[in-house]
Amino acid sequence: MKVLLTGCNRGIGLELARQFSQDNEVHCLTRSVSDELSKLKTKTYLDFDFSNDEFLENTEVIPSEIDIAVFNAGMGFFDEDYLDIFTLLEQFMVNAISQVALAHRIQTKFKSGTKLVFISSVMGSTKDNSGQYYGYRASKAALNNLAKTLSQELKEYGITVLIFHPGYVQTEMTEGNGNITPDQSAKNIIDDIARFDINDSGIFWHTEDKCEIPF
Ligand SMILES: NC(=O)c1ccc[n+]([C@@H]2O[C@H](COP(=O)([O-])OP(=O)(O)OC[C@H]3O[C@@H](n4cnc5c(N)ncnc54)[C@H](OP(=O)(O)O)[C@@H]3O)[C@@H](O)[C@H]2O)c1
Repeated sequence: MKVLLTGCNRGIGLELARQFSQDNEVHCLTRSVSDELSKLKTKTYLDFDFSNDEFLENTEVIPSEIDIAVFNAGMGFFDEDYLDIFTLLEQFMVNAISQVALAHRIQTKFKSGTKLVFISSVMGSTKDNSGQYYGYRASKAALNNLAKTLSQELKEYGITVLIFHPGYVQTEMTEGNGNITPDQSAKNIIDDIARFDINDSGIFWHTEDKCEIPF
Protein backbone atom coordinates (compact mmCIF):
# COMPACT_ATOMS: atom_id res chain seq x y z
CA MET A 1 0.00 0.00 0.00
CA LYS A 2 1.01 3.62 -0.52
CA VAL A 3 0.91 5.61 2.74
CA LEU A 4 1.26 9.38 3.18
CA LEU A 5 2.12 10.88 6.59
CA THR A 6 2.52 14.33 8.15
CA GLY A 7 4.21 14.99 11.50
CA CYS A 8 6.42 11.89 11.17
CA ASN A 9 9.65 13.43 12.45
CA ARG A 10 9.07 12.29 16.06
CA GLY A 11 6.42 11.03 18.48
CA ILE A 12 3.37 9.18 17.22
CA GLY A 13 4.04 10.06 13.58
CA LEU A 14 7.56 8.62 13.70
CA GLU A 15 6.14 5.36 15.06
CA LEU A 16 3.49 5.33 12.34
CA ALA A 17 6.29 5.73 9.78
CA ARG A 18 8.29 2.92 11.41
CA GLN A 19 5.36 0.48 11.54
CA PHE A 20 3.87 1.30 8.15
CA SER A 21 7.30 1.12 6.46
CA GLN A 22 7.68 -2.54 7.42
CA ASP A 23 5.42 -3.63 4.57
CA ASN A 24 4.23 -0.49 2.78
CA GLU A 25 5.59 2.33 0.64
CA VAL A 26 5.68 5.35 2.99
CA HIS A 27 5.87 9.01 1.93
CA CYS A 28 6.62 11.53 4.71
CA LEU A 29 5.86 15.25 4.41
CA THR A 30 7.96 17.13 6.94
CA ARG A 31 9.86 20.35 7.66
CA SER A 32 12.87 18.59 9.21
CA VAL A 33 14.40 15.10 9.33
CA SER A 34 15.41 13.61 12.69
CA ASP A 35 18.09 10.92 13.00
CA GLU A 36 15.36 8.35 13.70
CA LEU A 37 13.33 9.31 10.63
CA SER A 38 16.43 9.28 8.41
CA LYS A 39 17.08 5.64 9.40
CA LEU A 40 13.67 4.44 8.20
CA LYS A 41 12.92 3.11 4.74
CA THR A 42 10.62 5.99 3.78
CA LYS A 43 10.60 8.66 1.11
CA THR A 44 10.86 12.09 2.75
CA TYR A 45 9.80 15.44 1.30
CA LEU A 46 11.04 18.61 3.02
CA ASP A 47 9.38 22.04 2.53
CA PHE A 48 6.26 21.06 4.45
CA ASP A 49 6.10 23.59 7.27
CA PHE A 50 2.43 23.84 8.22
CA SER A 51 2.64 27.17 10.04
CA ASN A 52 2.11 29.08 6.76
CA ASP A 53 0.57 28.30 3.37
CA GLU A 54 3.76 27.97 1.28
CA PHE A 55 3.65 24.16 1.43
CA LEU A 56 0.60 24.25 -0.84
CA GLU A 57 2.98 25.20 -3.68
CA ASN A 58 4.97 21.98 -3.16
CA THR A 59 2.24 19.35 -3.45
CA GLU A 60 3.15 18.21 -7.00
CA VAL A 61 5.92 16.01 -5.49
CA ILE A 62 3.31 13.92 -3.67
CA PRO A 63 2.62 10.63 -5.48
CA SER A 64 -0.85 9.66 -6.66
CA GLU A 65 -2.89 6.52 -5.93
CA ILE A 66 -2.46 6.91 -2.16
CA ASP A 67 -4.22 4.21 -0.09
CA ILE A 68 -3.89 5.73 3.40
CA ALA A 69 -3.02 9.29 4.47
CA VAL A 70 -2.54 10.18 8.14
CA PHE A 71 -2.56 13.91 8.87
CA ASN A 72 -0.85 13.79 12.24
CA ALA A 73 1.25 16.99 12.50
CA GLY A 74 0.24 19.09 15.46
CA MET A 75 1.40 21.44 18.18
CA GLY A 76 0.21 22.77 21.51
CA PHE A 77 1.10 25.62 23.83
CA PHE A 78 0.11 23.97 27.07
CA ASP A 79 1.64 26.64 29.26
CA GLU A 80 -0.53 29.41 27.78
CA ASP A 81 -2.24 31.11 30.70
CA TYR A 82 -3.86 33.86 28.69
CA LEU A 83 -5.54 34.07 25.33
CA ASP A 84 -2.73 35.20 23.04
CA ILE A 85 -4.03 35.84 19.51
CA PHE A 86 -0.90 34.83 17.60
CA THR A 87 -0.43 31.66 19.64
CA LEU A 88 -4.04 30.80 18.92
CA LEU A 89 -3.62 31.53 15.21
CA GLU A 90 -0.52 29.35 14.89
CA GLN A 91 -2.31 26.39 16.46
CA PHE A 92 -5.29 26.87 14.13
CA MET A 93 -2.92 26.97 11.17
CA VAL A 94 -0.80 23.91 12.03
CA ASN A 95 -3.43 21.69 13.69
CA ALA A 96 -6.49 22.43 11.60
CA ILE A 97 -6.31 24.58 8.49
CA SER A 98 -3.07 23.22 6.99
CA GLN A 99 -3.96 19.55 7.48
CA VAL A 100 -7.38 19.80 5.84
CA ALA A 101 -6.26 22.26 3.15
CA LEU A 102 -3.50 19.81 2.22
CA ALA A 103 -5.95 16.91 1.96
CA HIS A 104 -8.34 19.04 -0.07
CA ARG A 105 -5.59 20.26 -2.41
CA ILE A 106 -4.33 16.73 -3.20
CA GLN A 107 -7.68 14.97 -3.49
CA THR A 108 -6.96 13.88 -7.08
CA LYS A 109 -4.15 11.74 -5.64
CA PHE A 110 -6.73 9.67 -3.75
CA LYS A 111 -8.99 6.97 -5.19
CA SER A 112 -12.11 5.05 -4.26
CA GLY A 113 -11.17 3.10 -1.10
CA THR A 114 -8.58 5.63 0.14
CA LYS A 115 -8.74 6.33 3.87
CA LEU A 116 -7.80 9.75 5.28
CA VAL A 117 -7.13 10.00 9.01
CA PHE A 118 -6.91 13.27 10.91
CA ILE A 119 -5.19 12.98 14.29
CA SER A 120 -7.28 15.16 16.56
CA SER A 121 -7.75 15.02 20.34
CA VAL A 122 -10.48 14.49 22.93
CA MET A 123 -9.56 18.02 23.92
CA GLY A 124 -11.27 19.13 20.70
CA SER A 125 -14.63 17.84 21.94
CA THR A 126 -16.92 20.81 22.57
CA LYS A 127 -19.30 18.63 24.61
CA ASP A 128 -16.55 17.34 26.93
CA ASN A 129 -14.68 20.64 27.32
CA SER A 130 -13.40 20.85 30.92
CA GLY A 131 -11.65 24.20 30.50
CA GLN A 132 -8.15 25.64 29.89
CA TYR A 133 -5.96 25.35 26.77
CA TYR A 134 -7.94 27.76 24.57
CA GLY A 135 -5.83 27.40 21.46
CA TYR A 136 -5.30 23.66 21.46
CA ARG A 137 -8.95 22.85 22.19
CA ALA A 138 -10.29 25.33 19.64
CA SER A 139 -7.86 24.27 16.92
CA LYS A 140 -8.71 20.58 17.35
CA ALA A 141 -12.44 21.43 17.37
CA ALA A 142 -11.86 23.32 14.12
CA LEU A 143 -9.97 20.33 12.72
CA ASN A 144 -12.93 18.08 13.57
CA ASN A 145 -15.36 20.44 11.88
CA LEU A 146 -13.25 20.87 8.73
CA ALA A 147 -12.62 17.13 8.48
CA LYS A 148 -16.33 16.41 8.88
CA THR A 149 -17.14 18.77 6.01
CA LEU A 150 -14.43 17.11 3.89
CA SER A 151 -15.94 13.69 4.69
CA GLN A 152 -19.23 14.83 3.14
CA GLU A 153 -17.51 16.17 0.03
CA LEU A 154 -15.40 13.04 -0.56
CA LYS A 155 -18.04 10.42 0.26
CA GLU A 156 -19.35 10.24 -3.31
CA TYR A 157 -15.85 9.33 -4.49
CA GLY A 158 -15.59 6.44 -2.01
CA ILE A 159 -12.96 8.22 0.11
CA THR A 160 -13.29 7.64 3.87
CA VAL A 161 -12.42 10.35 6.40
CA LEU A 162 -11.67 9.32 10.01
CA ILE A 163 -11.00 11.61 12.97
CA PHE A 164 -8.92 9.85 15.64
CA HIS A 165 -7.82 10.62 19.20
CA PRO A 166 -4.49 8.76 19.61
CA GLY A 167 -4.76 8.30 23.40
CA TYR A 168 -2.69 10.03 26.07
CA VAL A 169 0.73 9.28 24.65
CA GLN A 170 4.29 9.67 26.03
CA THR A 171 5.81 12.12 23.53
CA GLU A 172 7.57 15.51 23.53
CA MET A 173 4.15 17.14 23.35
CA THR A 174 3.16 15.70 26.74
CA GLU A 175 6.72 16.04 28.13
CA GLY A 176 6.86 12.25 28.40
CA ASN A 177 3.62 11.92 30.36
CA GLY A 178 0.85 9.62 29.20
CA ASN A 179 -0.79 6.20 29.50
CA ILE A 180 0.73 4.59 26.44
CA THR A 181 3.89 4.66 24.33
CA PRO A 182 4.00 6.07 20.78
CA ASP A 183 4.55 2.48 19.61
CA GLN A 184 1.27 1.32 21.19
CA SER A 185 -0.60 4.39 19.96
CA ALA A 186 0.61 3.82 16.38
CA LYS A 187 -0.49 0.16 16.60
CA ASN A 188 -3.95 1.25 17.79
CA ILE A 189 -4.24 3.78 14.95
CA ILE A 190 -3.20 1.25 12.30
CA ASP A 191 -5.64 -1.38 13.67
CA ASP A 192 -8.48 1.13 13.71
CA ILE A 193 -7.82 2.32 10.15
CA ALA A 194 -8.53 -1.28 9.09
CA ARG A 195 -11.66 -1.43 11.26
CA PHE A 196 -13.55 1.39 9.48
CA ASP A 197 -14.88 1.94 5.96
CA ILE A 198 -16.90 4.44 3.95
CA ASN A 199 -20.02 3.78 6.05
CA ASP A 200 -18.17 5.21 9.08
CA SER A 201 -16.83 8.29 7.30
CA GLY A 202 -16.79 11.37 9.55
CA ILE A 203 -16.52 9.38 12.81
CA PHE A 204 -14.66 10.92 15.80
CA TRP A 205 -13.01 7.90 17.48
CA HIS A 206 -10.95 7.20 20.61
CA THR A 207 -8.27 4.70 19.51
CA GLU A 208 -7.21 3.89 23.10
CA ASP A 209 -10.65 3.42 24.72
CA LYS A 210 -12.34 2.17 21.51
CA CYS A 211 -15.40 4.39 21.64
CA GLU A 212 -16.91 7.31 19.74
CA ILE A 213 -16.22 10.81 21.10
CA PRO A 214 -18.92 13.50 21.00
CA PHE A 215 -18.08 16.48 18.77
N1 LIG B 1 0.68 12.90 22.76
C1 LIG B 1 -0.60 12.93 23.11
O1 LIG B 1 -0.97 12.52 24.25
C2 LIG B 1 -1.65 13.41 22.14
C3 LIG B 1 -2.99 13.41 22.59
C4 LIG B 1 -3.97 13.82 21.71
C5 LIG B 1 -3.63 14.22 20.43
N2 LIG B 1 -2.32 14.23 20.02
C6 LIG B 1 -2.04 14.64 18.65
O2 LIG B 1 -1.23 13.66 18.02
C7 LIG B 1 -0.41 14.28 17.01
C8 LIG B 1 1.04 13.88 17.24
O3 LIG B 1 1.42 14.34 18.52
P1 LIG B 1 2.76 13.88 19.29
O4 LIG B 1 2.38 13.68 20.68
O5 LIG B 1 3.45 12.82 18.53
O6 LIG B 1 3.57 15.26 19.21
P2 LIG B 1 5.11 15.61 19.00
O7 LIG B 1 6.00 14.54 19.51
O8 LIG B 1 5.24 16.99 19.53
O9 LIG B 1 5.27 15.62 17.38
C9 LIG B 1 4.62 16.60 16.63
C10 LIG B 1 4.93 16.37 15.16
O10 LIG B 1 4.29 17.41 14.41
C11 LIG B 1 5.27 18.09 13.63
N3 LIG B 1 5.00 19.51 13.52
C12 LIG B 1 4.72 20.39 14.51
N4 LIG B 1 4.61 21.63 14.03
C13 LIG B 1 4.84 21.55 12.69
C14 LIG B 1 4.88 22.50 11.63
N5 LIG B 1 4.68 23.81 11.83
N6 LIG B 1 5.13 22.04 10.38
C15 LIG B 1 5.36 20.73 10.13
N7 LIG B 1 5.35 19.78 11.10
C16 LIG B 1 5.08 20.19 12.36
C17 LIG B 1 6.59 17.87 14.36
O11 LIG B 1 7.67 18.06 13.47
P3 LIG B 1 9.05 18.80 13.96
O12 LIG B 1 9.87 17.71 14.61
O13 LIG B 1 9.64 19.32 12.70
O14 LIG B 1 8.66 19.86 14.95
C18 LIG B 1 6.41 16.42 14.84
O15 LIG B 1 6.76 15.51 13.83
C19 LIG B 1 -0.65 15.79 17.14
O16 LIG B 1 -1.61 16.19 16.19
C20 LIG B 1 -1.23 15.92 18.55
O17 LIG B 1 -2.04 17.07 18.69
C21 LIG B 1 -1.32 13.83 20.87
